[in-house]
Amino acid sequence: MSLRLRRLLHVPALRAALIQAGAYPITLVIIYLLATLGMKPGLPDVAVVQGVIAALLTVRYGLAPWWRLIQLLFPLALVAAGTLALPPAFYLIVFVVLMGLFWSTYRTQVPLYPSGPAAWAAVAAELPATPGLRLIDIGSGMGGMALHLARVRPDAHVTGIELAPLPWLYSTLRAALSGSRARFVRGDYEQLHFGDYDMVFAYLSPAVMSGLWAKAAVEMRPGSLLISYEFEIEACPPVKTIVTTEHGPALYVWRF
Ligand SMILES: C[S@@+](CC[C@H](N)C(=O)[O-])C[C@H]1O[C@@H](n2cnc3c(N)ncnc32)[C@H](O)[C@@H]1O
Repeated sequence: MSLRLRRLLHVPALRAALIQAGAYPITLVIIYLLATLGMKPGLPDVAVVQGVIAALLTVRYGLAPWWRLIQLLFPLALVAAGTLALPPAFYLIVFVVLMGLFWSTYRTQVPLYPSGPAAWAAVAAELPATPGLRLIDIGSGMGGMALHLARVRPDAHVTGIELAPLPWLYSTLRAALSGSRARFVRGDYEQLHFGDYDMVFAYLSPAVMSGLWAKAAVEMRPGSLLISYEFEIEACPPVKTIVTTEHGPALYVWRF
């Protein structure tokens, strides 16, 4: 089996889908046995059996605990959606919009959720006064952080890089309409060289933090800053932790 295929088979969403597919023949056997016992299982019963089998297989194959609930409820949700008799185009539109928003989340395990003004202000306060800094938000989402940095540091070169097309389009339009100097690029931050930046901001997910650290440790220049919102790096404690709001996540700062 190729390395690429093996990696793909470790993607949780794909494993969850394969588990649902694998649960289906078992469900059919159980439904057949129930029918031979004189019971008349309907579609909701099939969905319940399918959900239970899929949830048990999810435990067996060691997916994160929240997948059990998703697997349990997914077949019932399909049956419930079927009863609404919505036009097929509705599902296509929802699918296209969600794909535009979340794009490679199934692979990257980094969903879209925005940071807020408290985090933006705290990051801006960490920046040295040196003019002409090169700043980047890796996974810039709706663009809030990059637009704020460009506003409060008009001397800096601010970039946001984003994989998902809709957030990238939205932030590009926001920059154009507000006359911001922030630049938004559609792409994968893994293809960047972090040595080109004085500050790299990341609001990603625990799943990618060790890879991010490996890349930053090799590429970042002496004196540059890596700032992560909410997620720490196990291998290396930050030089500074900033509490931005009373109950909100912290900002972690590493200096190279
Ligand atoms: C939690 S959101 C953070 C949004 C933004 N940085 C903020 O502070 O509001 C993470 C974003 O990273 C994007 N993303 C995930 N992996 C990426 C990658 N390899 N390259 C570029 N963007 C990525 C996701 O599509 C998502 O929009």
